Amino acid sequence: MRVGVLGSGTVGTQVVRLLLEQADDFAARSGANLEITGIAVRDVSAPRDAAVPRHLLTDDATDVATSNDIVIELIGGIEPARTLILAAFRAGASVITGNKALIAAHGPELYAAAAAANTDFYYEAAVAGAIPVVYALRESMAGDRVTSVLGIVNGTTNYILDEMSTKGLSFDEALAAAQALGYAEADPTADVDGLDAAAKAAIIASLAFHTRVGLDDVEVEGIRSITADDIREAHASGCEIKLLAIAQRREDEHANGISVRVHPALVPADHPLASVHGGFNAVLVEAESAGRLMFYGQGAGGTPTASAVLSDVVAAAAHRVNGGQAPRESSYADLPILGPEKALTRYQVQLRVADAPGSLAAMAQAFADNDVSINSVRQSSYVSDEQALVTIVTHAAPVSHLDAAVERLRGEERVDEVVSVHRVEGL
Ligand code: NDP
Ligand code: HSE
Repeated sequence: MRVGVLGSGTVGTQVVRLLLEQADDFAARSGANLEITGIAVRDVSAPRDAAVPRHLLTDDATDVATSNDIVIELIGGIEPARTLILAAFRAGASVITGNKALIAAHGPELYAAAAAANTDFYYEAAVAGAIPVVYALRESMAGDRVTSVLGIVNGTTNYILDEMSTKGLSFDEALAAAQALGYAEADPTADVDGLDAAAKAAIIASLAFHTRVGLDDVEVEGIRSITADDIREAHASGCEIKLLAIAQRREDEHANGISVRVHPALVPADHPLASVHGGFNAVLVEAESAGRLMFYGQGAGGTPTASAVLSDVVAAAAHRVNGGQAPRESSYADLPILGPEKALTRYQVQLRVADAPGSLAAMAQAFADNDVSINSVRQSSYVSDEQALVTIVTHAAPVSHLDAAVERLRGEERVDEVVSVHRVEGL
């Protein structure tokens, strides 16, 4: 079976190495000898890992895309990846990619091209690297109703937040450490601004809720604004700060649809996601019948990501030998995407207030009048004799209600300052 590889960078190089080194195993598992016929790169003369046979390198990516049974796209970005994948489908190939940006922007078009070609479209590596979460959502959970997915799906930002939490580094220091280790790109925008996680959140939500969700449907906030003070304050509340991708089904008297978002949030220290360190990823799925499922592992890096790519290669090759096909797009539920104000979350609000009779009552009233229930209140009086620092954690409520309560507190006579407002997840 002819295999073409588009891209031989961090991931492509490891895919090529493993395909060659473990050829006998792949043949036994798929029923076909997998022969790499071409590896398309931008610069054929650039130095390469010795595992990549130089005679297979070419700068004719279109030829590689259109002359193989299986095409593995590991270039990244929208173009030329999109055009090459569409050409591969038109030429009758099965396509495997790890390109989350492309799927979040053009997923339905790619699925349609696979259906028209009657071949497979697989993308396990696009979400959370080595962790088989695409398979889990697309196939393992097909007999259940997913209610929420909560995940750490970006290794770079988790590494940065972990360095800030465990070593007390500033954001800039932690980012520099991530870059020095090769976790973050020279231009780390897509990671630190949450866009990489947002693309993954869109894919997760599409699969979990059988609804088309694109990048534009995801509310995104990155981690640039997180300070060392925020981390210290989180620790004082028994929490860690994590960048979370959240896909949630809401079905109540106020809203019916799905909320998809990426933002930093406080996570209680005893929550499973709080102990995800360094560049690791984890995804927590809640479903009606299965209950809670947790997936954990390496979310990035050449070899872990190649593991996910190669599982797709074996599946696609076996289908071409034995018949059968990858699942097609499932968007039948077509649920409405809820605006950010409809998201259900909890807030932790820190306030500097007059330490005097009636202050607590005034704060409680601001929440009560906006239909927000309070979960806990903690007061420390280290600010001064007249002032206290009060930390209030709410129960889950729509963001619009929580924001209205915070706005009311800002205008409250007894409140000298709303010191911070953080979302809390996983309580
Ligand atoms: P790299 O930037 O390391 O590699 C990209 C490769 O594509 C290079 O070999 C480059 O050629 C080649 N390339 C770029 N433009 C073209 C072009 N126009 N025509 C032909 N070849 C081209 O990317 P990664 O390996 O890191 O990522 C690949 C994909 O995998 C992306 O979609 C990424 O999101 C995804 N992914 C990556 C993970 C990771 O940890 N790195 C984890 C999960 C998914 P040249 O070598 O000559 O520059
Ligand atoms: N830049 C991504 C990360 C790579 O840090 O998780 C995997 O998509």
